[in-house]
Amino acid sequence: MSKTAALILAAGKGTRMKSDRIKVLHEVAGQPMVCWPLNAAREAGAEELVVVVGHQAEQVRERLNDEAGLRIALQAEQLGTGHAVACGLPALSGNSTTVLILCGDTPLLTGATLQRLADAHDASKVAVTVLTARLADPFGYGRIVRDSTGKVQRIVEQKDATPEEAAISEVNSGIYCMELDFLRAHIDNLGSDNAQNEYYLTDLVAIAVAEQRGCVAVIADDAQEIMGVNDRVQLSQAGRLLRERINIRLMQGGVTLIDPERTYIDAGVVIGTDTEIWPGCVLRGKTVIGKGCLLESNVQVCDCTLGDHVHLKSGSVLAEAVLQHEVAVGPMAHLRPGTVLHDQVKIGNFVETKKAVLGAGSKASHLTYLGDAEIGQEVNVGCGTITCNYDGVNKHKTVIGDNVFVGSDVQLVAPVTVGRGALIAAGTTVTQDVPPDSLAISRTPQVNKEGWCLRKKPC
Ligand code: UD1
Ligand code: CA
Repeated sequence: MSKTAALILAAGKGTRMKSDRIKVLHEVAGQPMVCWPLNAAREAGAEELVVVVGHQAEQVRERLNDEAGLRIALQAEQLGTGHAVACGLPALSGNSTTVLILCGDTPLLTGATLQRLADAHDASKVAVTVLTARLADPFGYGRIVRDSTGKVQRIVEQKDATPEEAAISEVNSGIYCMELDFLRAHIDNLGSDNAQNEYYLTDLVAIAVAEQRGCVAVIADDAQEIMGVNDRVQLSQAGRLLRERINIRLMQGGVTLIDPERTYIDAGVVIGTDTEIWPGCVLRGKTVIGKGCLLESNVQVCDCTLGDHVHLKSGSVLAEAVLQHEVAVGPMAHLRPGTVLHDQVKIGNFVETKKAVLGAGSKASHLTYLGDAEIGQEVNVGCGTITCNYDGVNKHKTVIGDNVFVGSDVQLVAPVTVGRGALIAAGTTVTQDVPPDSLAISRTPQVNKEGWCLRKKPC
């Protein structure tokens, strides 16, 4: 099979988004809009990928930095889709013989449909294969004009269409598979003598027919796939449909979603079997969740790795944290970047952690802040414990050895080290290192003044 490239046209500003950010960098279900057609192109076998941008090329380059084999081409002035392709072609290496042409604002297009387009193209040996759809309301789209035998003849844009042509219900998706030799030979011959004074890529269809290179159409099974996103209403609709696909894939893979319509999972999230997710959860980024976990309502997880049988209780918020197996968190805990919880750690309500490592079996069950802390195994961190890690200029570390018992309302003024097996009495402010197996206690001696309250009370 011939080598395939993909050109993704994304130079339009996206005025209707009313945004400082170009349209194709807006996120849909967890990734920039343009990544969806990019991934579809990859799934359909494209190796070389070129995105044609007209604005914010640097931002696009930066945002898509991780995309393997991607090049960015610039179309400084938007003179039409034909001109956009002409701007993108020089970025292709010359190794490819076939090119998929996609739009950056059609996130619903699947790899399977694109593969069907590429296969049909391969089989028919024509120069141009176009993906079409039949729409009840075709207004705004280019129409597919066929001859009396049903052969595709040309595409006419809405603004150039006669009333008879405007009555055609088969529309151009703007997605094509083309032979590169044909494209290179004719792309500079397009005229702009039309209603919009633009160089129309669609004119290549009539050229292919005239040159006897042929054009065929593949009709999309699901017209929704060609839906373009032009404004934020369509952005939300596309997001909903993509999340629905993600959720169906997860449920079919053995994940229980109590209410999928109220569960928000990004494309890149991986979840193990028998994990159960309650409504209102938002799972983002490169999150990986193990098997048999339970995520109660309104849990947010971003870029975290969770082992098996982890229990996240309601309202907990986690970012860039690593949790091993059988860890319990929350309700309403806040695990910030750099948190690492080993097996069977328990983090209770209103506990915040940041750059904190807790060894296996350790517990911080209530109302605690652990920042820049290295905590051993089987440590009990009492209610109201605070690592005082910040002196106003620098952050300092607290180190607590295995089997330490930290009583309630303890402040650990970092840098400080508590040796293994030590006990910190409730109410202690720890300012010096504590040797192993020692008791540390710092309390103002209590004074009881008998009858004081009676004397103070107004008569
Ligand atoms: C185009 C098609 C139309 C089709 C429709 C499907 C042409 C002439 N018409 O129309 O037949 O039904 O898409 O949505 O091709 N772009 C550039 N540079 C430009 C112009 C456009 O990169 O100079 C990009 C846009 O960012 C967008 C895509 O090309 O991703 C389509 O452009 P758009 O202006 O939306 O084309 P339509 O007029 O809708
Ligand atoms: Ca459009």
